[in-house]
Amino acid sequence: MIKSISYAIYRHRDLDAVRTFFEDFGLTVAEETSDRIFFRGCGDAPYLYIAERGEEAAFVGMAFEVDSQESLQALSVRLDAPIEELHYPGGGKRVTTTDPDGRRVELVYGMARSAPIAVSRPAVAWNSWGERRRLGRFPIFDLRPAEVVGLKHVVMSSPNPPAIIKWFTENLGAYSSDLICDENKTVIGAFMRFPQGAEYVDHHNVAVFLGPTNGAHHACFETIDLDAIGVGRRYLMSKGYKASWGIVRHALGGAISDYWYDPSGFRVEHVTDGDLLNDTYPTKVNPHNQESLEQWSTMAMPEDFLRS
Ligand SMILES: [Fe+2]
Repeated sequence: MIKSISYAIYRHRDLDAVRTFFEDFGLTVAEETSDRIFFRGCGDAPYLYIAERGEEAAFVGMAFEVDSQESLQALSVRLDAPIEELHYPGGGKRVTTTDPDGRRVELVYGMARSAPIAVSRPAVAWNSWGERRRLGRFPIFDLRPAEVVGLKHVVMSSPNPPAIIKWFTENLGAYSSDLICDENKTVIGAFMRFPQGAEYVDHHNVAVFLGPTNGAHHACFETIDLDAIGVGRRYLMSKGYKASWGIVRHALGGAISDYWYDPSGFRVEHVTDGDLLNDTYPTKVNPHNQESLEQWSTMAMPEDFLRS
């Protein structure tokens, strides 16, 4: 039913500052109006992130791509929401609804794909122990933004994660790859994927954690490889932006990540090397501790990282 996450929507006061930041972060402006900027990556999605102009900065919501016109029709009936034309780059059709916290959730189908943008280099072949793959070549990098390929996930914060998990599972066919429980065995978080049978899919395209708001903890964008994350970090540092953490190898989902603050104070993540699962992997239940969060990092997790 749902193929994957499609785009995230945030509201900002200063779109000029947001444009500059996200270009330094590795996104490209696909289209811009007086009150909206559509940012894209190097992949074929027409856009990955919509920045809307508004008086108060806020996480607005996110969109998921539906696999067929029939699925969109079924969702329209189930959610009692009309199918409308999508007048954004790439066109298509959309059903708009809200989750139990009131976040906007858009379900889209039929967007025209864009011509991919060539990335500046292929992924680095590593000379790892037991596997020498880079022979007579040198990893030399230009100081430049970490080129974003696509949107990987949004992590929501919610006062009631079980209600959000239930809603995404029952309405959108999401499946919890990993649940997080507190010491009383109460579910306080979940990483959810959109299963495609035997096909391997991202460990999570959406996640939710207990938090004081109905907002988002971060939006995550895939880049080329670990060196893109490292060089991208140095580039963002050179521009004076504020990091939210260091470079991290996660435990659940396995990815290598780096977190930054955008000009409105929302976290955004670069990621590479995330885990892929198929239907042979059942839900795992995990305790809420440091070991579930990360295996190594270049600096200790800041105290405010788990706050929204
Ligand atoms: Fe993430």
